[in-house]
Parts: sequence; C-alpha cells; structure tokens
Amino acid sequence: MQMKRIGIFGGSFDPIHYGHLHLAEEARCRAKLDQVLFIPAWVSPFKQDTQPADGSQRLEMVRMAIASNPGFAVSDMELKRREVSYTADTLRRCKAMAGSESRLYFITGTDAFLTIEQWYKSEELLRNYSFLIGTRPGYCEEELSRIIGKVSQRFGADVQRIEIPQLDISSSRIREKIGMGESVRYLLPDGLIYYMEHNGLYRGAPEEPSETDRHIEELIAGRLKPKRLSHTYGVVEEAGRLCARFGADDRKAKTCALIHDAFRERGNLVHGAAAAAYMKETLGIDDLDMLNAVRFHTTGRPGMSLLEKVIYLADAIEPGRSYSGVEELRELAESDLDRACLQAMRHTIAYLKGKGESADPLTEQAAADLSKHIGGTAAVGERRSHE
Ligand SMILES: [Fe+2]
Ligand SMILES: [Fe+2]
Repeated sequence: MQMKRIGIFGGSFDPIHYGHLHLAEEARCRAKLDQVLFIPAWVSPFKQDTQPADGSQRLEMVRMAIASNPGFAVSDMELKRREVSYTADTLRRCKAMAGSESRLYFITGTDAFLTIEQWYKSEELLRNYSFLIGTRPGYCEEELSRIIGKVSQRFGADVQRIEIPQLDISSSRIREKIGMGESVRYLLPDGLIYYMEHNGLYRGAPEEPSETDRHIEELIAGRLKPKRLSHTYGVVEEAGRLCARFGADDRKAKTCALIHDAFRERGNLVHGAAAAAYMKETLGIDDLDMLNAVRFHTTGRPGMSLLEKVIYLADAIEPGRSYSGVEELRELAESDLDRACLQAMRHTIAYLKGKGESADPLTEQAAADLSKHIGGTAAVGERRSHE
C-alpha cells in the first residue's frame, strides 16, 4: 500500500487569502501531496486588533475558498477544542487519524520556521514530520539555510523550500484595509469579500464603552436579576439595530438602553422616572432627549423623538421577548418605526384592557398622536425634536 502524503496547514486564517491558497497549492504540487488539510486555529478573542471573525466564520471562509480544489480539505478540530494548541499536539492528533501508512508535511512560512528551535517539542516535530517552508526570493535566505542545515544534521529533519513569488498579502493588512473602508479585491476570492461584507466582519475596532456606560454596567450587574439583565442587553442590541436602520444616535441609545430598567424593582409606574433621575443627578447627564427616552420608555408620550421611539420599541421587541404579536411587530420594525411604535402601544392598551385594567393616559395620548401623524404627512422615521 502506498504511503499517503498529507499536508497540514494551520493558521488563524482571519481571513484566508490568496497568499495562503497559493502556498498550499504549490506545496501540494511540488511535494506531490495527496491532500492539504487546512486547520483553522482557535484564536483568543482578546488578542484581536479589530472586530474578530469568530471561529465558525473563519471556518466557513476557508470552506468557501477551497471548495473548488479537490486536493484541499478543512478540519474544525482546533476550533472545537477552543484553546490555543501547540503544533506538536495538533500533528499528533492528525497522525493518529491518518494512520501509520501516512506521512505528514507541515506547511508554514519562513518567519515561523526561523524560530523552529524554540517551538514546543521541536525535536519531536523535526524528527517525525516533514516541513514545507514557503519562501520568497531574497527574504532571509541565508538565515533559513543555516537553520535548515542545522536541524537536518542534528535531527535528520526533512525540510523543503516551496518558493512562491512575491505575493505579499497578509490577513492583518486585509483587516486593516477593510477597517479603513478600502477595497480588498484580488487579495482573496470575491465570494469571501461578499461574505465579509454581509457579516460585517473587520469593520474596525469595537468601540470602547464610555466611562458612563461602564458605570451603568456595574450598577445593573449588581442590581438586576439575570433575567432582567439579559432583557437589558437584548434592548441594547435591538436599539443598536434600530439606530442603524432609522439613523438615531447609537451611543445615546446604548446608554439609555443599559439603564432603562436599572430601578425596575420600584414598580412599573416609576422605574423609568427613577432611572432618569439617577442619570441626571448621579451621572450628570443633562441631555433632555436621553432623559426623556428613559423616563417614558414604558408609556411613551405624545410628540416622541426618534430616540424615544427607538428605546420604546427596542424594549418591546428585543430578542428575548416572546408574546403573541411580537413577530408582526418585529416585521413592521424592519421598515416603519412609527407604525411599529403605534402597534406596540395598541398591543399594550389591548393587553391591559383584557386584564380589566386601563393603560396609562400617556400611552393613549401617544397612540392617538402617532396615529394622527401617520394618517397625515408622516415620513418614516422622521425626527421630531421636542427639545
Ligand atoms: Fe422598563
Ligand atoms: Fe425593559
């Protein structure tokens, strides 16, 4: 039986690009590999310079990028483990799966190989596996020859150079370009560019929470029960979406969403006012629009601003909400903020009526106001400031 030759190509592939694909293909052809197995590594989410792609997204992009090459395959073995693994451990697992009738070729770049002697269990690696090193003409050639000579002599290592032309593409450069809104076409397959756009990948570093938001997050972590806390973060998430859709200020909305139910235990009627008072007196927020959005988040009121509507509606349809009618509300919220708010108010009024209670007069007035507005010359998402 013929020995199977398998190339192992590890990396974060964040994202995979033509530099990787070209090296893998050259390695496959030159070393006559039966297969090249791409193994996306688990990457600590804390080590990223920009909004990271999660493991399943990096895996999906590798899948898409290699789909047309029957000599390429991908494994999620590293991602499943959810911890940074050593090459020695990965190769041992691959070898166990591939069986004794196989030879593994570890594919890596020049920079990485130059430090091979410092790798974990480097001797085991060099004695048991072959190495295919992607090299560029004129790049660290002498240094590389010296290391190859040394490890071949000491450990009988099998190291081949795979010369690739100056294809100077890096994942970090791609992330940077996307973060700056620049084109990355011809650096990686078009399908991946569409995928990254569609999933909002690498669009710049996640924004640091403000001092105020940090304060509120500590406050609610201490005050709210888990269920209420998860509702609160659902409102933050939903408000972010509504802001993007209808053009409201997402930083203001985030702060309002975080604090809106911080004093929920004080009762349905006053908790909005209590939170608004805390914002003003303790946090020193004097933005009237923000204070109103929090104060009236349960009832609404006539003449609501864009921000008030966003918070009101986000509270009603955040992903954790489940009541009959919420799906229709979410659908309406896709396109028409005013109609969605109106419907949410009508829902509340009807719900309370069913229980033999009456809604807050402000909700009745807000619904009447919105209904008049929509019937007249209402434009979707129109800003009506009352400041
Ligand atoms: Fe509330
Ligand atoms: Fe709420």
